[in-house]
Amino acid sequence: MTETTTAPIHVVVLAAGQGTRMRSRLPKVLHRLAGRPMLEHVVATAAALSPDAIHVVHGHGGESVRAALSAAPVNWVEQPEQLGTGHAVQQAMPAVPDDAVVLVLCADVPLVRPATLQQLVAAAAGDGPAVLGVHAEDPAGYGRIIRDNAGAVERIVEHKDASAAERAVTEINTGLLACPAGRLREWLGRCTSDNAQGEYYLTDVVGLARGDGTSVAGVLAGDADEVAGVNDRVQLEAAERRLQRRQAEAAMREGLGLADASRFDLRGELTFGQDCTVDTGVVIEGRVRLGDNVRIGPCTVLRDVTIEDDATIESHCVLEEAHVGRGATVGPFARLRPGAELREGAKAGNFVEIKKAVIGPGSKVNHLSYIGDAELGRDVNVGAGTITCNYDGTHKHRTVIGDGAFIGSDSQLVAPVSVGAGAYLGAGTTLTRDTAPESLTVTRAPQKSVEGWARRRRRE
Ligand code: UD1
Ligand code: MG
Repeated sequence: MTETTTAPIHVVVLAAGQGTRMRSRLPKVLHRLAGRPMLEHVVATAAALSPDAIHVVHGHGGESVRAALSAAPVNWVEQPEQLGTGHAVQQAMPAVPDDAVVLVLCADVPLVRPATLQQLVAAAAGDGPAVLGVHAEDPAGYGRIIRDNAGAVERIVEHKDASAAERAVTEINTGLLACPAGRLREWLGRCTSDNAQGEYYLTDVVGLARGDGTSVAGVLAGDADEVAGVNDRVQLEAAERRLQRRQAEAAMREGLGLADASRFDLRGELTFGQDCTVDTGVVIEGRVRLGDNVRIGPCTVLRDVTIEDDATIESHCVLEEAHVGRGATVGPFARLRPGAELREGAKAGNFVEIKKAVIGPGSKVNHLSYIGDAELGRDVNVGAGTITCNYDGTHKHRTVIGDGAFIGSDSQLVAPVSVGAGAYLGAGTTLTRDTAPESLTVTRAPQKSVEGWARRRRRE
């Protein structure tokens, strides 16, 4: 930080544009980056500056925008008609005191860093505006920052209003600006819509300030990616990849092992211990917590899960609101639904679905099973193709399996039902009544084999 401002900071986020180029019913600012609406990113960045207030100017889709960010501590301002960026800022000004510094952000410039904004605010600490520019390889479409012979910022000219010589300038306006509030109010009042687009341009403030003999600071953003705008889905994808890259690098610096940072998608919050590794194609959503030495195999989705030390999630698994205990193993091709809890050393193997069930320490459900609304003790062995029939069409019922029980393959446990500790169910059991500890239950019809039957049939 170059300087600290003592003036209160009021952030104005412009979010009223329709975003027609997204070709979407959803307002542009609600399109998601890393799982959160673009606007939420900008509000979070603004909040990092500890401002006195954040005003969000919305128009199109106002209700849904407010609803999507209902928890955000912002002051909502409506701009019923989109008459330009200057007009948009003006809508927020009644709530801004004269002694504040106004920082204007755009909801569709979502990757800007707090440090850059701090610079911009500090540069507006005098009595003039500060604009954030960047050198663009292709400046077409943007406003150009025009400097005088001494190199000072003189005015901003919009692409549509620019001469051929002005269009040759590659320093573009990012759309972000800071300005002392009292002066801004006065200059906004003098903006006109006498231009190619018939809009009230916020950028005219720069020329008006210079006309009043006030100098304008030009702050340069470090890289164009940070201030890139999102106007269509191509730019949205580009912003997503940049943000993912940022998150991946931050995670790797904290010690997370990633097989390929470009095939890692974090759409929420991830915390992890030491020596965790994440293979390619993993999607992490919500709040995910990994202990030490956790291995996540390729092509897996983790949503709101906790995975303890030394656990392994093999490839192609989907885990949601689940808890995986120390040293447990999941997959490949397993699905843990909400309320699934694997205790220490437990195993859920391929094509196994578990919902609202505890799989006790060391217990194994290795193949092709559905376990729902159940509680398994320790060291239970569940054979392939076992199903807890938990639903009678109206209500859900529980299955309880005691420690050390053995469930033969292809068994159905019709809940509510329990299996005693150490009890056995023969393969193909349809269990409808509770069984005692250490018992054997077999429900299949006795086997009948007819000697020579096939040979006789062929002769007939
Ligand atoms: C603006 C700048 C231009 C800059 C470019 C960077 C002006 C006049 N021009 O142009 O110098 O190079 O951004 O991307 O400021 N908005 C409202 N209400 C309105 C109009 C716009 O809230 O009435 C919002 C939009 O939703 C958007 C932002 O303001 O978030 C910028 O508006 P946009 O129409 O995209 O301005 P540009 O023409 O791109
Ligand atoms: Mg724009």
